[in-house]
Amino acid sequence: MNAASKLRSSFTISSNVLALLLGLSSSVSAAPLQYLTGAGTKAAPVVVLTWAVLIVAISVVVIISSLVIVGYFRRPRVSVQPGERSDVGSGQTGLNWILIGVGISGVALLCTIVGTVLVLADVETPGIRPAVTLEITARQWFWEVRYLSPNPAQIFTTANEIHIPAGEPVRLKLIGGDVIHSFWVPQLAGKMDAIPGQINETWFEAAAPGAYRGQCAEYCGAQHAHMGVMVIADTPANFKKWWDHQLQSPTQPASDGAQLFEAHCGACHTVRGTDAAGTKGPDLSHLMTRSTIAAGFLPNNGPNLVRWVSDPQSVKPGSLMPTPQISGADLKSIDDYLQSLH
Ligand code: CUA
Repeated sequence: MNAASKLRSSFTISSNVLALLLGLSSSVSAAPLQYLTGAGTKAAPVVVLTWAVLIVAISVVVIISSLVIVGYFRRPRVSVQPGERSDVGSGQTGLNWILIGVGISGVALLCTIVGTVLVLADVETPGIRPAVTLEITARQWFWEVRYLSPNPAQIFTTANEIHIPAGEPVRLKLIGGDVIHSFWVPQLAGKMDAIPGQINETWFEAAAPGAYRGQCAEYCGAQHAHMGVMVIADTPANFKKWWDHQLQSPTQPASDGAQLFEAHCGACHTVRGTDAAGTKGPDLSHLMTRSTIAAGFLPNNGPNLVRWVSDPQSVKPGSLMPTPQISGADLKSIDDYLQSLH
């Protein structure tokens, strides 16, 4: 190995270690968690407020620290012998400086408070009535997402990847399915808790099509750090296409895999149009339209599906998914079946 390739490989190793330390898998790092840029009408004013408050806070720290340092070097030099008393005061109280300091701080704080109240009032409700309402139930450890509609035939459930129409506000109804979680997609909106026994309503909007990563922001158990969520903003036409597709039952290949899936997995997972109708785990009707599995933890592909299905406890210890007793050949059939769910 020459020096350049050694350097390259050590860089790759250290960036992998960094990604591991930050809890990023390769698929997730494709859309990193960003919280200092906004991507919609709700987040944009909050990001401006964040920067404004940050600049005020940093200025206060820098100015006060500088004055303390200046004060240290300009302190009166008096030499005092042991047992001797000395008057260190200059005879002036310095009250003027205190009044000036309090005045400046008061104005800065007042501006911050007024700005915060104005921004919070501005983002409280969307400008227009949202056409799309999602019911999001946070569970240990995934996000169940139900697309609501006055027409029951238009309702469906998916998980972890939320498609929304770009340029339109979307109403969210947040529910805690077991413990308290917190729904946070920082580029689109601030955090909102998902609490058992109540529905918390909020909204968000993505200005442009794209993928926006989110994360559970309230400690909710062993796999809290692996409770990611991805919001994918589509053009309104593509969103409609996606919704219509989700309503369909997946095309069923006549295979052993389908029967094995119903027998082993159907009590917890749903696949539309089959006897698999469990609601404990994520709805898998269109599993392969999602880019990740296990709440954004692993890229969704054949090897990872096998790894996850055969030994979920080694992938996400503490997860409610039990280790199924499935032979190698049956596992292969189930994996094939899962990969057919488009
Ligand atoms: Cu769910 Cu933390």
